[in-house]
Amino acid sequence: MEKTVQLYEGKAKKVYATEDPALVIVSYKDDATAFDGTKKGTIRGKGAVNNRMSNFLMKRLAEAGIPTHYVEELNDRETLVKKVQIVPLEVIVRNVSAGSFAKRYGVEEGIVFDEPTFEFSYKNDELHDPLLNTSHALALKLATKEEIGTIKAMALKVNQELKAFFASCGVRLIDFKLEFGRLPDGSIVLADEISPDTCRFWDAKTGEKLDKDRFRRDLGNVEEAYQEMMRRVFGE
Ligand code: TMP
Ligand code: ASP
Repeated sequence: MEKTVQLYEGKAKKVYATEDPALVIVSYKDDATAFDGTKKGTIRGKGAVNNRMSNFLMKRLAEAGIPTHYVEELNDRETLVKKVQIVPLEVIVRNVSAGSFAKRYGVEEGIVFDEPTFEFSYKNDELHDPLLNTSHALALKLATKEEIGTIKAMALKVNQELKAFFASCGVRLIDFKLEFGRLPDGSIVLADEISPDTCRFWDAKTGEKLDKDRFRRDLGNVEEAYQEMMRRVFGE
């Protein structure tokens, strides 16, 4: 399948049309942003890491019964996916306190929760992705009640699967963000990406951060952390 016209350029990916109206090609960039795009940089090799890792995880999740947009990896940076209408919700699951949770509620990072937490942000850069609850999402008609039920159940199942998988790689899955899309028949599938850009990964032994927080917080060894996650996942 060949790219035709560029449909969209986001902060970390470009999306191209193909000859098949039901399929698009996603191309992952090395560009990195944080804090609503106000911090900008490049993480060498990130596009390839995120593309390959996300595809690997989506395939595993599909085997576990979670429908996804994934179709075929075309090369290191490009993947053929089903064209979806993105539900404008960032779906965040947390196993351990970190990031905005720790800041918002005034607690330290690293508190292990008895049960995972679940939250939505409204995917809207101009409004800085504000936190919102189910009744707000329904009032804004961002999704239906049934869709929200499906999304929540799928996100918690993704957490179970990914937590177990990363534990087998010596990595703690602290939290992550998912996005979902609607297919033309109205069904919901997991979309976007699952990568060190969208998850927090802490080394199980040392607690070392192996994700985009190294870029957000200027911790150094950013590229190395992405490559280390590749080794953990693929044994390369
Ligand atoms: P947070 O603690 O900053 O709310 O982030 C929660 C998780 O979501 C974390 O794993 C990083 C991920 N995330 C994104 O994927 N995109 C974003 O724009 C933000 C703010 C967080
Ligand atoms: N991708 C987000 C942005 O640039 C931020 C993040 O991942 O922290 O706004």
